[in-house]
Amino acid sequence: MKQIGIFGTSGMAREAGDIAWALGYEPVYVARDQAELDAYSFSGQVMLECDIDTYLDLGYVIGIGDSSIRQRIAQRYAERLNFVNLIHPSASFGRGQRELIESRRGVIVCAGVRFTNNIQVGDFCIFNLNSTISHDVVIDDCVYVAPGAHVTGNVHIGTRSWIGTGVAINQGNESMKRQIGADTVIGSGAVVVKDCEPNAVYIGVPARRIK
Ligand SMILES: CC(C)(COP(=O)(O)OP(=O)(O)OC[C@H]1O[C@@H](n2cnc3c(N)ncnc32)[C@H](O)[C@@H]1OP(=O)(O)O)[C@@H](O)C(=O)NCCC(=O)NCCS
Repeated sequence: MKQIGIFGTSGMAREAGDIAWALGYEPVYVARDQAELDAYSFSGQVMLECDIDTYLDLGYVIGIGDSSIRQRIAQRYAERLNFVNLIHPSASFGRGQRELIESRRGVIVCAGVRFTNNIQVGDFCIFNLNSTISHDVVIDDCVYVAPGAHVTGNVHIGTRSWIGTGVAINQGNESMKRQIGADTVIGSGAVVVKDCEPNAVYIGVPARRIK
């Protein structure tokens, strides 16, 4: 059976592993160090990151929800590893969107995700279970979209931003996209009705800045 390397051993990595299995690949998880490897109690193969040179023939994804950590690993191995995209067979795509995502590096699309059309997606983004991304959305590198979040049309999400479970981001318009600044966290269940500043945390309905 063909194998795929997945950085991380926690829940997000194992969700990526589920996609690998669904696509007919055996996941090989990458533990940062011996302590992480010793703590791993799930089924499946695990390698140590320091041994990665013996697995250079694999394709890799980074199954780590923290967007900054994901970006650091991506930068560390940008030249040495073949980062692939992992797309669950149940994800569905508007015209040309699957091809667009397949042209990126390290994007993970979980079960039940729906992309409509004219969407741009950066490298190393994660779209978790049943999230929806609507028309004319622009998503920069290393963004994380949690389960059941809904990004409506004409939204721009900045690099490394983190959209929590069940968030709804209301639409912008053709001349002015709704802006979610870089490095911003939107807490679970929030409804975003205005632009969100960079480096901030928003919660609630309607979403308000708390940090
Ligand atoms: C928004 C969030 C990042 C804040 O985390 P934090 O900085 O550790 O903040 P705290 O837990 O200290 O909470 C600060 C306050 O906000 C409230 N709060 C936290 N998250 C909230 C949320 N999603 N909605 C409403 N209120 C929330 C807390 O009750 C607390 O209120 P208090 O000061 O009156 O007691 C976090 O709660 C969150 O929602 N994370 C997303 C979880 C998620 O979607 N996970 C997906 C995993 S796949």
